Amino acid sequence: MTAAAHTFELLWRGGATASRLHRRRPGLDAMPWGTLELARYTAPVAAEARALWTSGVFTEYASAAAFSALTTTMLECGAPIDLVAMSADIVVDEMFHVELSSRLTMELGGAVELDFDLAKVAPITTPGARPLMKAAELAVTTSCVGESLSVPAIARSRVLAQEPLVRAVLDRLLADEGPHARLGFWFLEWAAAELTDVERAKLARMAEDAIEVYAPLWQEPCEACPDTDLRGHDAEGRCALRAAVHRGIAQPLARVGIELDAARLAELTS
Ligand SMILES: [Fe+2]
Ligand SMILES: [Fe+2]
Repeated sequence: MTAAAHTFELLWRGGATASRLHRRRPGLDAMPWGTLELARYTAPVAAEARALWTSGVFTEYASAAAFSALTTTMLECGAPIDLVAMSADIVVDEMFHVELSSRLTMELGGAVELDFDLAKVAPITTPGARPLMKAAELAVTTSCVGESLSVPAIARSRVLAQEPLVRAVLDRLLADEGPHARLGFWFLEWAAAELTDVERAKLARMAEDAIEVYAPLWQEPCEACPDTDLRGHDAEGRCALRAAVHRGIAQPLARVGIELDAARLAELTS
C-alpha cells in the first residue's frame, strides 16, 4: 500500500502460489471486476468507501492471524483433528478475503494509509495459561464474538449495496463467515468438560470485554459509515448486531457453560 515503515503493505507473489490459492478458493474470475462507476459518487463518499475497505482488508488480515494463533493453540491442546483442520482452513478463507477486499479497494481508487505494526497483529492470550485455556480464550474472542458479529454486519452491508462488484464481494465474505462463527462454539463443546469453573468465569469476562470493544458499532450512528451503497450501516443493521449479541453469542456460550453477566450485557446492548 505504501513503503513507509510500519505502514500496512501487502505483497502478491503470483505464479504457482496464486494458482494454488485460486484452485482452493475459486470464483474470483466470475466477479464483475472493472464495473465500478466511481463517477456516480461524490468525492467524500468515494474517499469514505476507500477508508472503509482499507480497514476491511486489515480486519481480514488480522482474522487470518487470529485463526492461525487459534490453530496453533488447538494443536497444543490436542483438539480433534477435523476441528483443527477447519481452523487452519479458515486462515486460507481469510487470506482469500484479504485478496478480494484489496482488489475491491484498488478499484475504489486505492488504499488509504494505515499505520500498523504487523509484529503485533496476532491476538495475545493470558501469560502462563495452559494450552486448552489459551485455545478457549482465542475461540471466544475471535470466533464466538468477532465472527458472530461480522455476520450481521456484512449481511446488512450486502442489503444496502447496489454496486454489482461490492455485492459479489460481500456475498462471498458472507458465505464464508457463518462457519467461522461456528468453530469457536464447536471447540468449546469439546473443551467444556475439561474447563474449570474459574476458567469458565474468566472466559465469560473476556467475552463481555470483547463485546464491549464492538459496542460503538450499534450504540450510536457510526460516524465513519455514511449512507453509501459502497459499504455502510443503518439503524436496522445496528438492531441486528444487538440481537446477535444475545442470540448469536450469549445464548450459545451459556449452552457450553460460559454465562455472561446479564446486567452488563443489558447495559452493553441498551
Ligand atoms: Fe473474513
Ligand atoms: Fe472470518
